[in-house]
Amino acid sequence: MKEIEVLRDRFLKDADSCLSVRDTDELKIKYLGRKGLLAEFRKGIDFKSLSPEKRGSFGRSFNDIKSLMEKKIEEIRIAFDATHAGKRTAAIDMTLPGSGHSLGSLHPVTLVQMELENIFMAMGFYIEYGFDVETEYYNFEALNVPSDHPAREMQDTFWLTNGMVLRTQTSAQQVRALEKYGPPLRAIFPGRCFRYENLDASHENTFYQLEGLMVDRSITVANLISVMKLLLSKVFHRKVETRLRPGYFPFVEPGFELDIRCLLCGGSGCKTCKNSGWLELLPCGIVHPNVLRFGGVDPEKWSGFAFGLGLTRLAMMKYGIADIRIFNSGDIRALEQFTAAV
Ligand code: DAH
Repeated sequence: MKEIEVLRDRFLKDADSCLSVRDTDELKIKYLGRKGLLAEFRKGIDFKSLSPEKRGSFGRSFNDIKSLMEKKIEEIRIAFDATHAGKRTAAIDMTLPGSGHSLGSLHPVTLVQMELENIFMAMGFYIEYGFDVETEYYNFEALNVPSDHPAREMQDTFWLTNGMVLRTQTSAQQVRALEKYGPPLRAIFPGRCFRYENLDASHENTFYQLEGLMVDRSITVANLISVMKLLLSKVFHRKVETRLRPGYFPFVEPGFELDIRCLLCGGSGCKTCKNSGWLELLPCGIVHPNVLRFGGVDPEKWSGFAFGLGLTRLAMMKYGIADIRIFNSGDIRALEQFTAAV
C-alpha cells in the first residue's frame, strides 16, 4: 500500500504548515471532503480485483489513515483555540475588548529618576549616565580613595578579571565630567551601582543613586543647602525642614549627612525615623581640592559641591515600599502597583 503512505506523508506535511484556523479548515476539505484526496484515492481502487485478504488489510489501513487525519485536524484546532489565534483569523471583530495584555508600566525607580531629572534640568543641570563598568581610577583613586584607604572596604566590590570594577557609586562620574566639560559645571549622574552586600529588606547588591556636582566660582555650603532644599520641596511637594550633620567621605571636605524632618510623624518620633524625628537622606559636601585637581581644575580658582542621593531609597520612601528586594524581583504584580501605566 505504498500510495496510501505517500498520501499520509503529504497530509502530515500540510498539517505542519497550518498557520490558522482557516488553514485547518482548508486542510480538512482538501483531504477529508467529499471530493477530497482520500475519497479520490478510494475511488481509484478496484476492490473487485483484490483478494478478500488484501481487501481486508486495505480497509484497515484506509480507516487508520482517515482517523489519523481527523485526530490531527482536531488537535490543531484545539491548539489554535487555546492561543486565541483561532478567534483572530476566523473573524476580526474590532469592537471586541482586547486580549488583556497590558503595555506594562514604568518601574518605581525610573519614575523617581525621571521626576528628579526634570527638576534638575529646570535648574540648568545637565544629565550624564556614566558606565556600569568603571576603571578603578574613576571609581576610587580620582575620588581621593587610594588603594590602601580604609573607605574602600565599606564598598566591598565586584572586580572583573580585567581589573575593572562594577561601579560602586555614581560619584565615579565626577572626575570624568570635570575632564570632559571643565568648569563651570552643573550636572547630575543617575545610575546603577553595585556592591557586595548581604541581601535583606534594606540592602541590595544592585541599586540606584543620583549624583550631583556643581562647580563654579566661590561655591559654598549655602549654595549646597539652597539647591538641596529646593530639590526636596519639589520631590515631596511640600516644604521640608533639613539639618546638616558632619559626615566623612574622602572626596568632600567638609562632608555632611543631610537629614530631613520625618515626613510621617512630622518630627514627633515614629518607627520609620527610629523615634529621632529625622530621616537620613543625602550625603553631600564641598568637593575636595584633590578631586578638582584630578579633574584638571584649579582649586584656587574654583570650588563646588557634590551630593549622592540614594534613588532606590528615595523611591522606597516616596511609595512606602518596605522591602528593597521588590525592586529587582521582576514581579510585575508588585511593581505595577506603584507606577502609572505607560
Ligand atoms: N558616593 C557616596 C556613597 O555611595 C555618597 C556620597 C557622599 C556622594 C558624599 C557625594 C558626597 O557626592 O558628596 O556612599
